[in-house]
This record gives sequence, structure tokens and C-alpha cells, in this order.
Amino acid sequence: MEGKGLADSSVSAHIYPKWNRSISVGDAKLDREHEEIFDQIIMVAGFVDQGDGGAVLAAIDHLLALLERHFIDEERLFSATSYPHTPAHKIEHRVLRHMARHIRGAVELSRDVSFLGLSLRHLIQAMVEHIIEIDLGYRAYLHEAE
Ligand SMILES: [Fe+2]
Ligand SMILES: [Fe+2]
Repeated sequence: MEGKGLADSSVSAHIYPKWNRSISVGDAKLDREHEEIFDQIIMVAGFVDQGDGGAVLAAIDHLLALLERHFIDEERLFSATSYPHTPAHKIEHRVLRHMARHIRGAVELSRDVSFLGLSLRHLIQAMVEHIIEIDLGYRAYLHEAE
């Protein structure tokens, strides 16, 4: 079993979902940011498939930057509306940020990316659920910010 990663056959970028219109929050900029985040997670998964730890780290760093910008943009929008769930929403953002940072830390520590499939699937699942269950809830307030 020499040289075989833990997930050689199961970490495949093609199984990750792409963003699509059915989860549009009704704002072009925020939709584009969601799409970029999904694409970046697929990018990370692609480097995991290739076993390229350095590229995985760089791609996760870019993902963290995209998440950071997106959360700031959403939270700025909340403060321009009467959206009532800002505190809980910010905590969800903090949890997602921690998930991504945790993945980064584990890669940096072990230099092994073969375990990342499960973590990335959890992260993208958490992102999808956050958009559907939490982000779509601010849709009705967006017009107040215009
Ligand atoms: Fe979002
Ligand atoms: Fe959000």
C-alpha cells in the first residue's frame, strides 16, 4: 500500500456541486461571490485529487479571502436594512470561517491532503445549507438597501 493516499479513489473534484440559479439570493454581486466560493472549493478539491499540497494551501488561502470579502459584503448589507437576524447570521459566518481555517491548519500541520475529501464535502455542504437556510432569509430585505 505504499504511496496510496487515504482517499485516492474518493476525492474527486467532479462530485462537488456548482452554484446555480435555484439558490440565487436576488443580488448579482452576492450571487457571483457565492458562485466564486463554490468554484474555489472545487479548485481546492482538484488540487487534492492531484495530491499537490502546496497548491491546496494556496487555494485554501484564496478561498479564505473570498469568504472574508463575502461575509463583509453581506454583513454591510444587513446594516443598511431592517434584516432582524444579523447577530445569529454573523455567528454562522464565524463557524464557516472556522471550518475553512481548520482545514487549512490541518493541511499545514500534516502536509497530507489525502484526508481532505470529507472535510471539503462538509464545508461545501455547510455552505449550501447556509445559503439556503440563512442567506435566502435576507432576500426580502434587499430592496431596503437600494
Ligand atoms: Fe452568503
Ligand atoms: Fe451569509
